[in-house]
Amino acid sequence: MTERGSDSYMAKQCYIPVARIEEVPEGQARVFSVEGQEIVLCKVDGKIYALANVCTHDGGPLGEGKLIGCEIECPRHGARFDVRTGAVTRMPAAYPVQTYPVRIEDGAVMVQLPTEEQASG
Ligand code: FES
Repeated sequence: MTERGSDSYMAKQCYIPVARIEEVPEGQARVFSVEGQEIVLCKVDGKIYALANVCTHDGGPLGEGKLIGCEIECPRHGARFDVRTGAVTRMPAAYPVQTYPVRIEDGAVMVQLPTEEQASG
């Protein structure tokens, strides 16, 4: 008998606990290090989003920027990104920032990070 749902089981394996849900206050950005990567977690309207802590304009530390509604503003030159999609909403950045799928399990914020294979292409 073939086991159904094995694909979703594999996908679940890629979700890594990054923080406790209470460590991410509404309307603020927080930076966490996991697996050698810095991940920004933002809570907007009760939902947590994850993105890379690297601005696509010139590598600014996005997680040190302000969260304005659903946009995060880079502290370096003021580019803004939609934390829900990574899309640029204000120049000078031209490219979207990397975002990651998030799920909540038992109060833990789980983020699906690229595996080493995916990261190396
Ligand atoms: S490094 Fe982020 S706006 Fe320039």
